[in-house]
Amino acid sequence: MYIKSLELRNFRNYNHINLEFDKGSILFTGNNGNGKTNLLESIHYLSAGRSHRTYIQDELIRWGSEYALLRACIESGDESKMHILEIEIRKNNNIKIRMDGVYQKKKADFISLVPSVIFSPDDLKIIKSNPGTRRDFMDSILEKIFKDYYRLKLQYNKILLQRNSLLKSTEGALSSNHRSTLEVWNQNLVKYGTEIILMRLNLLRSIVQQFNSYVNALFDNADPDIEYVFSWDRDGKTENCGDGKTLYGENHTDIIDGESIRKIFMDKLNESLDRDLANRTTNIGPQRDDFKVFFKNKDVRAFGSQGQQRISSISLKLCELYIIKKMLKREPVLLLDDVLSELDIKRREKLVGVINRNSQTFVTSADSSHFDCLDIDFHKKYLIEDNEVKMVK
Ligand SMILES: Nc1ncnc2c1ncn2[C@@H]1O[C@H](COP(=O)(O)OP(=O)(O)OP(=O)(O)O)[C@@H](O)[C@H]1O
Ligand SMILES: [Mg+2]
Repeated sequence: MYIKSLELRNFRNYNHINLEFDKGSILFTGNNGNGKTNLLESIHYLSAGRSHRTYIQDELIRWGSEYALLRACIESGDESKMHILEIEIRKNNNIKIRMDGVYQKKKADFISLVPSVIFSPDDLKIIKSNPGTRRDFMDSILEKIFKDYYRLKLQYNKILLQRNSLLKSTEGALSSNHRSTLEVWNQNLVKYGTEIILMRLNLLRSIVQQFNSYVNALFDNADPDIEYVFSWDRDGKTENCGDGKTLYGENHTDIIDGESIRKIFMDKLNESLDRDLANRTTNIGPQRDDFKVFFKNKDVRAFGSQGQQRISSISLKLCELYIIKKMLKREPVLLLDDVLSELDIKRREKLVGVINRNSQTFVTSADSSHFDCLDIDFHKKYLIEDNEVKMVK
């Protein structure tokens, strides 16, 4: 499956561009600030229904314009059918999606039409930034591979919002009415929240071995591991909790079932009531979960070098690519935004080696000489300059 054409109107710095592609690798070069990332962002938006770098839709509309329009012709892989996907973004989060001219009400219906995986320097945030970035990493994969996950999250967030409004309205004291309503929210929170937790646990379980092999290919003697961190374990943990406890690492000790999670979730939710009332928010649940990456039992976020953190984040993204291919049985479009410039030559070669050649791959770089010694053949090359995209090959 691949993107055959891409048209942008008033998207970021672009007034109007119209590009045609084949399968294979495509290179965009241009000076800093010329719009390389913006172009990949538009492809990511068509694929995932959201930007990879902002939640604020208005930022995507070209300054001074009223709307942005993204249009792509996509060969979706199922019997080589062509689809026209159009997304119109208007101010104040007003988004309209059309597929083959028909309006799509639900984002979940089109987000797996053209799956993509983006690699960007921002991926370092998966390791370095707050737990929300790591939850987003897990959730964005699950959204791509399970149609219902997006709806499940919406359902959960709705209940969470209602529970939080109730906590705010009580002003610290619970009436019996409050108590019975809270009981209902708790039941639902645990029901849907457990499903989210289980899906995230399964995701980590199915990528951990792959993660280890990617890290080991890029870094010697790292002895990597991944651990899911439950909201109820977070507060008690310190940064150097590398005590060898693994969820999915070599020992595969803690295979946690839904019933145990439901029970502990409900117990911890009840225990946390006073804190929830004091903070006027829900402290327990998947909205506060996290995961940690360890090298030799040490938390990479706290103790890893810049290089180790970068290798961890790239390996996590390679896992995303691996699991999407495995689950959807399709080659996702690859978006490589200036990732090679961050690596030394040995690791560039290895990264290019593990990335599958069958995918349509969009690559950006401010310096095309980075590719001179690498085994990568671009069938088209573009130069981005003055808000225009010019073909140079
Ligand atoms: N809504 C918008 N309207 C117009 N221009 C915008 C908008 N949002 C961002 N820009 C412009 O887009 C440019 C940044 O583009 P982008 O991040 O794609 O650059 P880049 O080529 O990837 O640069 P680098 O090599 O530094 O990563 C900036 O010059 C910014 O002014
Ligand atoms: Mg950029």
